[in-house]
Amino acid sequence: MKLLAGNANRTLSQAVASHLDLPLTRAQVKRFADNEVWATIDENVRGEDVFILQSTSYPANDNLMELLICIDALKRASAKRITAVMPYFGYARQDRKTGGRTPISAKLVANLITRAGADRVLTMDLHSGQIQGFFDIPTDNLLSAPILAQDIKENYERAAELLIVSPDVGGVVRALALASRLNADLAIVDKRRSGPGKSEVANIIGDVNGRRCVLFDDIIDGGGTLCNAAEALIEGGAAEVSAFVTHGVLSGAAVERVNSSVLKELVMTDSIEGPQHIAASGKIRYVSCASLIGEAIRRIANEESVSKLFD
Ligand code: R5P
Repeated sequence: MKLLAGNANRTLSQAVASHLDLPLTRAQVKRFADNEVWATIDENVRGEDVFILQSTSYPANDNLMELLICIDALKRASAKRITAVMPYFGYARQDRKTGGRTPISAKLVANLITRAGADRVLTMDLHSGQIQGFFDIPTDNLLSAPILAQDIKENYERAAELLIVSPDVGGVVRALALASRLNADLAIVDKRRSGPGKSEVANIIGDVNGRRCVLFDDIIDGGGTLCNAAEALIEGGAAEVSAFVTHGVLSGAAVERVNSSVLKELVMTDSIEGPQHIAASGKIRYVSCASLIGEAIRRIANEESVSKLFD
């Protein structure tokens, strides 16, 4: 088995490699002067079970192209099986036609990865579970809930008394998965989008008065969803609000927005390598998903159950 890393998140790739006690395969991914991507695998991979780690995070198109080109290089080098390991699958939010003459880009990206030659996909907390069906190859969708629930149990007193809050109706199943692991109650924020990147809270479904709330979402991008939801919860009488998120996209001024929000803290997995200035924020911290990803890779390589990880 071989583990190859693209440039999207070298820190996580190294941590996964350490978990598996396996060196990263020697490879180079470079750019031509006009920014074309070029890759070479510097080790024999003929007949190998290869896992390539590359989230399609910012810059999404460059990282996606890197992934496709590495898969092509591995295919042409006669790798036996290629698994695209994308802890964060970018483009997932474009999973349906939202109006006339609009694309379903998540399906297009799934087609590209499959046609490039991937045999399997391993990812985590897809924006919607149905995206698994966009791939005509086996796709394992890991859940971050167990590692986040563990972190909550370690850092929050009386975790079962917390109120887990979904920041929108679309995230209820995900939030419920976390609430069940903690035996906690669930509330829902009724979020309305007035345009791309703009969101407003219309209602809160559930009694939040005096409760310690934990918002749980798959993505924080500009930060509007979580910061607005936190504000509405505090206005509704919540005692405190924290946020747990699987994928920290954190574009634009998201970090500053979180820093100046009413959120007590924001906790994210390291599926995406964050901007440097996060380190200076006293409010944001990471929980590593390296052992979860590493263990899933080990199980796939050994043909063991992956779903057992979530029993
Ligand atoms: C949308 O449905 C997602 O689950 C997230 O809520 C959304 O992407 C967050 O975006 P932002 O942080 O820009 O509000």
